[in-house]
Amino acid sequence: MNCLDAIRKRSSCRDFSDKKVLPEDVEKLLEAALASPTAINAQSLRFSLITDEDLIQQISDRTYERLDQAALERMKERGAKNLFYGAPLILVISSVPSRYAAMDAGIATQSVCLAAEQLGLSSCIVGMSRRSFEEDNPDHMRPALQMEEDERYLISIAIGYAQSRKEPHELSWDHVRRF
Ligand SMILES: Cc1cc2nc3c(=O)[nH]c(=O)nc-3n(C[C@H](O)[C@H](O)[C@H](O)COP(=O)(O)O)c2cc1C
Repeated sequence: MNCLDAIRKRSSCRDFSDKKVLPEDVEKLLEAALASPTAINAQSLRFSLITDEDLIQQISDRTYERLDQAALERMKERGAKNLFYGAPLILVISSVPSRYAAMDAGIATQSVCLAAEQLGLSSCIVGMSRRSFEEDNPDHMRPALQMEEDERYLISIAIGYAQSRKEPHELSWDHVRRF
């Protein structure tokens, strides 16, 4: 699969099977994350690879405790098995202080999602899990990921084999200005 095909084929998977990701594919996903560019090559991002089912469930539970009614309804409508839709592998991206961390994390996120696509895997970017890392949450999950004091959660990605998947979203060509 070439890069453009991966970009066009990718869509958010919200129904993963419990089939595990092969160890050699896990390494390729990590390589895609580490190969991603960062502003002034700061490389401030930290990548927590999680396959421990209990830990995945704990992050999901801690997040659910803090979801508002609308988000809870949305997850119910999606028939979500948990916050990560039953994915066997979660990559949490965090950062030690850096001006462009959010931008860097976004780029790394898409690199990982496209690498997953090429490997025949599916992915879903999950921002909602930030609620389980909020410091005002007395049960926050930061120690579980050995986060440094000044390290901040940015985004997570659920990865695995799709049990079912939806079509990619429609392209909004009217959002483009040409000069
Ligand atoms: C920064 C970011 C955060 C997201 N957070 C969530 C989330 O918490 N849960 C979820 O199911 N999807 C999440 N998504 C997926 C979007 O809902 C999805 O990309 C969008 O609906 C377009 O669908 P597509 O990815 O299938 O093209 C997130 C996407 C991005 C870019």
